[in-house]
Amino acid sequence: MLPQTIPTLEGRRVTLRPFRESDAPLVQSVADDPLIPLITTVPTSGSLEDALAYIDRQHERLVSGAGYSFAIANAETDEVVGQIGLWLAAIKHGRASTGYWVAPQHRRRGYVSDALRTLSDWAIDHDQVQRLELYVEPWNEGSWRAAERCGFQREGLLRSWQPVCEERKDMYMYSRLRKH
Ligand SMILES: CC(C)(COP(=O)(O)OP(=O)(O)OC[C@H]1O[C@@H](n2cnc3c(N)ncnc32)[C@H](O)[C@@H]1OP(=O)(O)O)[C@@H](O)C(=O)NCCC(=O)NCCS
Repeated sequence: MLPQTIPTLEGRRVTLRPFRESDAPLVQSVADDPLIPLITTVPTSGSLEDALAYIDRQHERLVSGAGYSFAIANAETDEVVGQIGLWLAAIKHGRASTGYWVAPQHRRRGYVSDALRTLSDWAIDHDQVQRLELYVEPWNEGSWRAAERCGFQREGLLRSWQPVCEERKDMYMYSRLRKH
């Protein structure tokens, strides 16, 4: 069974762990990223107060049944570099989904590839998760490359799937299955 508390998961170069208040500066640092605040609840103000409220919300995700929100931390230094979630809205149908971000100053070092592999190996090890889904905009090569590296397969293009910044966007649907 999926656990009642957020576990700590050890990857090769990352540790996935609950957020801490001391991670707030990283959240503040992505306030002006062109994409992260649009697709997450990261606040655009950059204030410490709002960053701490964001961290509180990450802890609430499991309490409310929404899913697990992990901080992605460097495995050696424990410095936080981003966030990855396992979302459970469709878990009664055996489906979960994932999404993630890494702060610009930490990109292209393999953090998301390792975080996604660690999270998906762990999730799919549970009977409840028969199918793990990921939605990626076609231009977002860094994201879909990480997905493919972690065994996700592209299933097709979902046209006009969801609004991002008031404009409906197409999304590639990727998935990884428990049983192949
Ligand atoms: C997409 C994102 C998560 C990638 O994180 P990352 O830690 O830099 O990714 P990795 O270093 O693990 O790289 C994954 C792969 O993508 C490639 N890649 C990374 N950024 C890329 C870019 N901007 N353009 C093209 N390829 C890129 C890497 O070379 C690597 O390819 P490889 O496996 O063939 O070697 C990061 O850019 C981000 O947070 N973007 C904003 C939020 C976002 O897009 N979230 C995902 C929504 S679906």
